[in-house]
Amino acid sequence: APRVLSGIQPTADSFHLGNYLGAVRQWVAMQDTFDAFYMVVDMHAITVQTDPAALRRRTKVAAAQLLAVGLDPERCTLFVQSQVHEHAELAWVLGCITGFGEAGRMTQFKDKSAKQGSDSTSVGLFTYPVLMAADILLYTPDPVAGGQDLQVPVGEDQRQHLELTRTLAQRFNHRFGETFVIPEAYIPEASAKITDLQEPTVKMSKSASSPQGIIDVLEESGPMRKKIMRAVTDTGSEVLFDPENKAGVSNLLRIYAALGGGVTIKDLEKRYEGQGYGQFKKDLAQVVLDTFEPIRERTQKLLADEAELDRILARGAERAGAVASVTMDVVRDRVGFVGRGRAE
Ligand code: TYM
Repeated sequence: APRVLSGIQPTADSFHLGNYLGAVRQWVAMQDTFDAFYMVVDMHAITVQTDPAALRRRTKVAAAQLLAVGLDPERCTLFVQSQVHEHAELAWVLGCITGFGEAGRMTQFKDKSAKQGSDSTSVGLFTYPVLMAADILLYTPDPVAGGQDLQVPVGEDQRQHLELTRTLAQRFNHRFGETFVIPEAYIPEASAKITDLQEPTVKMSKSASSPQGIIDVLEESGPMRKKIMRAVTDTGSEVLFDPENKAGVSNLLRIYAALGGGVTIKDLEKRYEGQGYGQFKKDLAQVVLDTFEPIRERTQKLLADEAELDRILARGAERAGAVASVTMDVVRDRVGFVGRGRAE
């Protein structure tokens, strides 16, 4: 079967609406038709200073949330990145074929490091996209079998990192012989960039959005409803999709259509014609609550049995590790590392 692979950082106590619509929902849909690998990327999370207890907690919450939205450990491989050591190992090799300038052109790095200043920016943040390339390429389907696919469902903000991954895969193949399948970014346009509720021209973001601008999947219903009612809308009062001039309303329409069980943006424009923003937001809040409430409940149940959660992740790491170690053996050989013989 063709493969699908993706990852999410455990950098907050919950995923937000952008993560859910931009990525995680596609993960669930794809687990049936693909050989699926999904991971919580805790090694990426430590590229900025992180409290160990918080990281441990968030990693488990992230895993529980992924199960709660519908990932099924029988149908996909769910694991924690740091439990499969080949990720770090391949990242080193790929780092050695990445240009310094090439890595420096990553816009996410430029934005984040500009905000932090160079002394508090870690080298890990700089090489972050290389680790991401390793995450992906370790799960390359056998290139010799031919015609195999490796799909990576992500939001728009990861497009440049995917491009770099493709470049590195091609470069490695060219220098060392066919090894990696060239992965494809899977970015469905409708929900590729969910924006901040208070600043509807920039993406909703764990690190950059204000609490008022972001909706967490695990948030309590009261605050969730309030945030939607207070979302920035635009001058005028028509519920119309016009991303250029009505960024706020257009973002809300996107969210509504994505969660509304088949209703289209056109349908919604018609339904709210002449009604103003109030009723529209009220109904949208209900749709969001109806989606997230059951997820919140299931997450709490899953977190109540930590031993079972640990077992699921251990099985996931075992399955992921089996694939990763085969790829890494090939890579070591291609690069010219001497295989370890017997000690006696
Ligand atoms: P992360 O943890 O920032 O986000 C997880 C996923 O959510 C998407 N996303 C959004 N989609 C739409 N609208 C938004 N406002 C929005 N905000 C976030 C992201 O695009 C992402 O798909 N580098 C990755 C994690 C990663 C990874 C990988 C992904 C590490 N290794 C290998 C794929 C394959 C990241 O920081 O995602």
